[in-house]
Amino acid sequence: MQYKLVFVGFGNVARALARLLVRKQAVLEKEYGITFSVTGIATGKHGFAVREGGLDIQKALKLVEEGESISPLSEAPVKDSLEVIRKSRAEVMFENSPVNHSTGQPAIDHVRAALEAGMHAITANKGTVVHGYRELTALARSRGRKFLFESTVLGGSPVFSVFREAMPAAELLSFRGVLNSTTNIILSRMEKGETFDQAVKYCQSIGVAETDPSADVDGWDAAIKVAALVTVLMDLPCLPQQVERQGIRDIKPEDIKQAAAKGRRYKLVCSAERKGDKVSARVRPELVPVSDPLYGMEDSTTGVAFRTDVLGDYSIIESEREGMVAGPEPTAYGLFADFVNAVKRGD
Ligand SMILES: NC(=O)c1ccc[n+]([C@@H]2O[C@H](COP(=O)([O-])OP(=O)(O)OC[C@H]3O[C@@H](n4cnc5c(N)ncnc54)[C@H](OP(=O)(O)O)[C@@H]3O)[C@@H](O)[C@H]2O)c1
Repeated sequence: MQYKLVFVGFGNVARALARLLVRKQAVLEKEYGITFSVTGIATGKHGFAVREGGLDIQKALKLVEEGESISPLSEAPVKDSLEVIRKSRAEVMFENSPVNHSTGQPAIDHVRAALEAGMHAITANKGTVVHGYRELTALARSRGRKFLFESTVLGGSPVFSVFREAMPAAELLSFRGVLNSTTNIILSRMEKGETFDQAVKYCQSIGVAETDPSADVDGWDAAIKVAALVTVLMDLPCLPQQVERQGIRDIKPEDIKQAAAKGRRYKLVCSAERKGDKVSARVRPELVPVSDPLYGMEDSTTGVAFRTDVLGDYSIIESEREGMVAGPEPTAYGLFADFVNAVKRGD
């Protein structure tokens, strides 16, 4: 079947997804009978474009990467993202606009509009999950469509789909892990002798930390991921503001040296524990001993151990493969997998 796709947000993640779709075109068709065209793209400052017969993806990639507008590719004038979604007449919408920690907007409106127009909505945007999970999931169900967000936690590694597909009726009791790779890289580099500022600069130079690194170093990114896991996997609505949160700014090189002398290291530990219909959730630096599974998670490695009522502790770890440069590709793969999983059955 031919699927029309619309991209809302065409930044690092969405462009990596576009490239991945092109790279996997043959296998998609051969194994799943899926072909696709991109009928709409919306950006913040690089314009909007719709074309029912399909936009030229390579041209769109080139224009955005050269800082140009994609609007000349459009067959009709379009003024905003919601209009792009409606006019694209797509079957699948990918929402990859910047995350808004406090409200989830405007991404929630984009997902709602797509579902209302009968599209599957797939996103890497954590704001849609912590601020809109119940509403958007109910809306998707009522339309016979999917709202999927695998890439919001642990890059593209399967977490939500493991619980959804492979662990029916398992009750999640608690989890503990390292969910933010930027702070983990910073702590690892400080252990090797860099100052906090040098380590932050390094993260900025490889594109994993933003110019203002506070969302990472103050624990907000980790807190929103904890909130997403609690909201979805424990089915208890949880906002990032409800997660007890402490970042890594106060950790000094001397603290790290002293810890190392005792065979310990700092990790920004993310955890949550269910107590009846309540949850205690936190993000805070902890000193972990060599015997702790988190001790070995260095640099950009992230991972989480889940305790359920049915299995022994079950861990998912994503570590950088040798030769693989940190970037948006794993996140793009999570979106790609959600797309295939959304359309491969039922449609
Ligand atoms: N980067 C990662 O590895 C990663 C990992 C997991 C999750 N995520 C999540 O994935 C999403 C995208 O991340 P990214 O790294 O691709 O960000 P990015 O490079 O900053 O791209 C954001 C895109 O959204 C566009 N945009 C801004 N405001 C918009 C609006 N109101 N409507 C439509 N589009 C809008 C931007 O357009 P302009 O450039 O024209 O302003 C840009 O195309 C974020 O929610 C992020 O938290 C990212």
